[in-house]
Amino acid sequence: MSAEIIDGKMVAELLYKRVKEDVQQWCKKGNRRPFLQVILVGDEPASIIYTGTKTKACQQVGIETDTMVLQDTISENELTEIIHSCNTNYDIDGILVQMPLPSHLSKYSVIEAIDHRKDVDGFHPMNVGRLSLDQPCFKSCTPAGVMELLKYYSIPVKSKHAVVVGASTIVGSPMAVMLSRENSTGKATTTICHKYTRDLTAHTIGADILIVAAGQPNLIKAEMVKQGVVIIDVGINRIADETHEKGYRLVGDVDFESVRIKASWITPVPGGVGPMTVAMLMKNTLLAAKKSVYPK
Ligand code: GUN
Repeated sequence: MSAEIIDGKMVAELLYKRVKEDVQQWCKKGNRRPFLQVILVGDEPASIIYTGTKTKACQQVGIETDTMVLQDTISENELTEIIHSCNTNYDIDGILVQMPLPSHLSKYSVIEAIDHRKDVDGFHPMNVGRLSLDQPCFKSCTPAGVMELLKYYSIPVKSKHAVVVGASTIVGSPMAVMLSRENSTGKATTTICHKYTRDLTAHTIGADILIVAAGQPNLIKAEMVKQGVVIIDVGINRIADETHEKGYRLVGDVDFESVRIKASWITPVPGGVGPMTVAMLMKNTLLAAKKSVYPK
């Protein structure tokens, strides 16, 4: 047996199409185009690539965007001043500060400076708190994208044992919250594992749904999972490979070739969860423009 492939690229394209149509409808009614302000501090190559991908996605769906590039020597005060001016600028709907930030800046202070109604990343404590309470909010894009994939492929979540490997504030923690809430998409019994977990296999072997966001290539091997498991691989790791044009290739946190034989469903890397993250960002930005994310 070999797992069915969860095609995140295809599902993301469907989402783009839907957002693009919604943006057109929104503008036809006389509203201006949604606007996403991206703030990039420093010149880390991976962050430049990620923000470039977000810009392209905006262009694809008809969302206006601008990337403000700031020196990595900027002070926290200067950065929060800039964020405050974006908060009060009515032409800006969504604000995204690309992570990671240089080490002298506190990501928590910077995120808190963003108006939570413009926090399209879903990182602000107000959105994190509302997510925990199962209240309408901006949801962190990667775990929201995973939930969208499970829904698209009609993979049952209710009463399943979901195991999340990785407890980051961006992915693992909100992922576990989304899976465990008592709502129409949740209700899973959820375990979170992390770098302090003593016997990882003891947990992963019982998983009906295994979500891996540890940032460790080939962490999950076939002997660590049970037959029929659903595998969601959030990892994106660069592995040196001279046979590839770029000198590297991308792999996830799961040993795809061995695990796919036991799994019922599996996401590939690339082309699995990755494209969904940016698609969810587009959806959140449109929601921010419509200001419909919170009840009136
Ligand atoms: N860095 C890595 N992933 C993300 C993300 O989803 N949002 C932001 N702002 N920074 C990131």
